[in-house]
Amino acid sequence: MEIETKEFRTSKNQTGALTFIEGCKDILFEINRVYYIYDVAPGERRGFHAHKTLEQYLICVHGSCKILLDNGMEQSTVQLADPNEGLYVGPGTWREMYDFSDGAVLLVLASDYYTEDDYIRDYQAFLDYVRNEGIR
Ligand code: TYD
Repeated sequence: MEIETKEFRTSKNQTGALTFIEGCKDILFEINRVYYIYDVAPGERRGFHAHKTLEQYLICVHGSCKILLDNGMEQSTVQLADPNEGLYVGPGTWREMYDFSDGAVLLVLASDYYTEDDYIRDYQAFLDYVRNEGIR
């Protein structure tokens, strides 16, 4: 499956780097929530869910991690290791995050507030969901 990444604008000089992300320009959905994942113990894997409507950008702002994406037909993996790279994860995409480096911080920009109703946490239910969505 196709991986959609975006390189955010960055100002770099001898003093350091500054990456900036602007609503409507860099991110086309309305950002209603920001959260970040960190302190992930070695070998741990997270995610194991899809969302029905949520859109997200995942940015590994420190360290690196790998993301498995699955649309019910195909899978792809991507390593995020650059703080100015964002990975788009849209609705109906199963995701797993793993291989977090020591101290990695995964920042997520999300289109909506947290609600458990938007989650599909069972893989078989996810497959049924995307197949039924495809028929419509
Ligand atoms: P979850 O999305 O399952 O984490 P991951 O995909 O990284 O494994 O969320 C873990 C817990 O945190 C779960 O109990 C729901 C809660 N949570 C919130 O309360 N608000 C949030 O914005 C998020 C993302 C999670």
